[in-house]
Amino acid sequence: DGDAYKYYADGVWKKSASGKSVSIINPTTRKTQYKVQACSQEEVNKVMDLAKSAQKLWAKTPLWKRAELLHKAAAILKEHKTPIAECLVKEIAKPAKDAVMEVVRSGDLVSYTAEEGVRILGEGKFLVSDSFPGNERTKYCLTSKIPLGVILAIPPFNYPVNLAVSKIAPALIAGNSIVLKPPTQGAVSALHMVHCFHLAGFPKGLINCVTGKGSEIGDFLTMHPGVNCISFTGGDTGISISKKAGMIPLQMELGGKDACIVLEDADLDLVAANIIKGGFSYSGQRCTAVKVVLVMESVADALVEKVKAKVAKLTVGPPEDDCDITPVVSESSANFIEGLVLDAKEKGATFCQEYKREGNLIWPLLLDNVRPDMRIAWEEPFGPVLPVIRINSVEEGIHHCNASNFGLQGCVFTKDVNKAIMISDAMETGTVQINSAPARGPDHFPFQVNLPFNQLNSAISKTWKRTKSIFFLVQWSH
Ligand code: G3P
Repeated sequence: DGDAYKYYADGVWKKSASGKSVSIINPTTRKTQYKVQACSQEEVNKVMDLAKSAQKLWAKTPLWKRAELLHKAAAILKEHKTPIAECLVKEIAKPAKDAVMEVVRSGDLVSYTAEEGVRILGEGKFLVSDSFPGNERTKYCLTSKIPLGVILAIPPFNYPVNLAVSKIAPALIAGNSIVLKPPTQGAVSALHMVHCFHLAGFPKGLINCVTGKGSEIGDFLTMHPGVNCISFTGGDTGISISKKAGMIPLQMELGGKDACIVLEDADLDLVAANIIKGGFSYSGQRCTAVKVVLVMESVADALVEKVKAKVAKLTVGPPEDDCDITPVVSESSANFIEGLVLDAKEKGATFCQEYKREGNLIWPLLLDNVRPDMRIAWEEPFGPVLPVIRINSVEEGIHHCNASNFGLQGCVFTKDVNKAIMISDAMETGTVQINSAPARGPDHFPFQVNLPFNQLNSAISKTWKRTKSIFFLVQWSH
């Protein structure tokens, strides 16, 4: 297809020999906005070979040189923030200002990774044999970090640039090569980001970006023998990837049903502001979005009133106008959200606003008195619809949070530091935020998932222990 954006391999932009393309639908206009190449399996094979040879040379490239190129790419990326943000607006309907922020934040992350990488990878471990019973000092052991090889990076639609570079930059500084498979919705933004790495002058074949139909190259990529590690962010697809992938390390960040537990002594204005920011920014299409509010009955009426007042002020419309609520990414996503809303209606949830939808645009909706028999109590809408469950004890809130299949983030609002720590400790999530909405950043903070042994879908940890973080809001007054 002559109009389609080219894919990137061996340091050059190429058309697929298939002559086919994949259309990218603008979520706002619901018309084809761009087209990308539909790469074939044969083309993927070639890319894998190129990535393998390029990696061998790259691993021998001095660390400081790798860092230098990353710094260069970061600067170019930030220079290109406007055109890339325009693509994000058209492809994924991200509000204009947030789109620019995504690119800037990505540039900063690339630089930070380059700086940290130089230090982390310089560290090694030195062991001597006489530490272990029965041994003299006759053997030394030097342990250092070496690259894995070819990394398959698969970011999601909601951050096609940021969640791509958060895989690419650490992989590159550590001496790996990259095969990037961007989400279809967001592919052009990702290709433009790759162009910035191209301009920085990385060796040929080190960074490659293939586009195409999941049905044609999806499994083919994840099961490819040339891949040495998969870094995936997304939804349930991660479960099937983990079942299909070979004996290689997997880095998975999947869904989140991030709970917000609100105690009686909480500062309700602070809670309401964080529920709005946490639940409705980018129309709830964030894995770290507040996805269920668990509030103590005695303060529930007051909190719901405050949140309702703020929901009424959210602007709804096109991303070009920088509206707070913009169309969700696809028609099927909007239909899924609608399914959850109708189920809640049928089962008696209280609608704080009227349900309204036009095309992919769904007006923000707060559902009060949600009960555990409703799908929305457990499922992730990935849209601007937020359920409130009233609880009578803190234990009830913790129980609901832990009964969820997802263990990404959560938050707790209380002025009692003691309770905050106890509850954070009891919540089975990778991160708990105290008096603050769930969110990844700042981007140098750890971002990890809970790893219950019965869950295949959280395979980020390669050790026998999980890491958990608690982030605090620290300020003099609210
Ligand atoms: O995958 C993480 C993403 O959905 C949320 O990131 O930065 O909005 O908290 P952030």
